[in-house]
Amino acid sequence: PSANVGVVGLAVMGSNLARNLASREGNTVAVLNRSRGRTDDLLAEHPEAGFVGTFSYDEFAAALTVPRTAIIMVQAGAGTDAVIDELVRVFEPGDIIVDGGNALFTDTRRREAAVRATGINFVGMGVSGGEEGALLGPSLMPGGSDESWTTLGPILRSIAAIAEGEPCVTHVGHDGAGHFVKMVHNGIEYADMQLIAEAYDLIRRGTGKSPAEIAEIFAEWNRGELESYLIEITAEVLRQVDAETGRPLVDVILDQAGAKGTGAWTVQTALDLGVPVSGIAEATFARSLSSHPEQRSVSGSLPGPSATVAATGADADLFIEDVRLALFASKIVAYSQGFGEIRAGAAQYGWNIDLGAVSRIWRGGCIIRAQFLNRIADAYAQTPDLTVLLTAPYFVEALQRAQDAWRRIVQNAAATGIPAPAFSSSLAYYDGLRADRLPAALIQGQRDFFGAHTYRRIDKDGTFHTNWSGDRTEAPATSSH
Ligand code: 6PG
Repeated sequence: PSANVGVVGLAVMGSNLARNLASREGNTVAVLNRSRGRTDDLLAEHPEAGFVGTFSYDEFAAALTVPRTAIIMVQAGAGTDAVIDELVRVFEPGDIIVDGGNALFTDTRRREAAVRATGINFVGMGVSGGEEGALLGPSLMPGGSDESWTTLGPILRSIAAIAEGEPCVTHVGHDGAGHFVKMVHNGIEYADMQLIAEAYDLIRRGTGKSPAEIAEIFAEWNRGELESYLIEITAEVLRQVDAETGRPLVDVILDQAGAKGTGAWTVQTALDLGVPVSGIAEATFARSLSSHPEQRSVSGSLPGPSATVAATGADADLFIEDVRLALFASKIVAYSQGFGEIRAGAAQYGWNIDLGAVSRIWRGGCIIRAQFLNRIADAYAQTPDLTVLLTAPYFVEALQRAQDAWRRIVQNAAATGIPAPAFSSSLAYYDGLRADRLPAALIQGQRDFFGAHTYRRIDKDGTFHTNWSGDRTEAPATSSH
């Protein structure tokens, strides 16, 4: 055997990851694909990589040095289970199987338990950064055992993106922790993208600027505190002109957003954990609303507001600056909610996740990479067990600075009938956090009224029930619901 690592699944992500591995000092990479043709092509197109081409699982296992390490790069789903079964058949205790697909973390937990029973290590690993990231340096989020990390760590560090001199990879936690964190990464990605889209829509409809002009605004924003990959590519997309029609490309793209499900998983999991990720949820639902033309066909028949305030001249500049601040504040909420979900997941599943390390490995390689993640890293460096990220001093200061603008933008959107679900729900969440008293007290009263669900009091311990259907006196409750 001559290869220290292998890749199974040679579609674009797999081939690129294999080429990345092969390009690093000390790695020899064995490759395997279900159909032989793709392997032959890869070997022919990239002789410089020195790949060890294999054409069966037995050959693949024989090509790998012990402990054997295989990274599976196939579309998440049943295909992953089939590949795992084959690898378990040809591998031995102590070997390592890594799943680099976007698997649901509960599937990863199931697979990890099953594979561990054979003595083989199973690592679910989040991989972010798309095709280019896979080739040049992704952000990597491996879970799995400590034993597997000993072997995997150096290999993964060699291929990860580098941010501020550090490779963007950390051992996130045991079993499904890596895929959990990747899932939340994607949820934040959904929120970030929706917020940017709302900002674009507000500026376009509020000031009448063209996509090309708005591209320049985003390019300008990318030189400040909003600096990030998603803002950068937004400027590129808005600048693009359609060759066929000569119109801005964004105007000829069908306005129905796709989704492969990871945003929905983030929201479903948050509901199970009972953590509010309202910004991420709105972003996910905004995609669903967009992609239901049969529901949207009522457009035109539903009445809109009388106000259509268009900002011009100096007003336009003030409005645009307000949008920028609203975007920044809402983005703080999205990340704060996402990190809150990771914190809750870690508590629920017993993962020891270092939130500061997560923020650091997202600074490079991944889709949500942003300048801003340095501030999150600082916040966790100061207070590692911070309950709510946005209460860190830097974010409090930023929210203080942004909040009047944020409120004006949400008001303006509501008054002029421009949908800004992520902006407004983020603000509502923020005000919910700030409130001294929430009307949840009334909800408890209602629950006690119709279902004797009981309530607690602010002035003494215990649970209580009011005899609503009788004399309306209060008595200590025997059991709480
Ligand atoms: C990444 C991305 C990527 C993800 C798509 C899915 O981190 O590189 O998150 O892994 O598959 O972005 O997004 P959709 O649900 O929008 O297809």
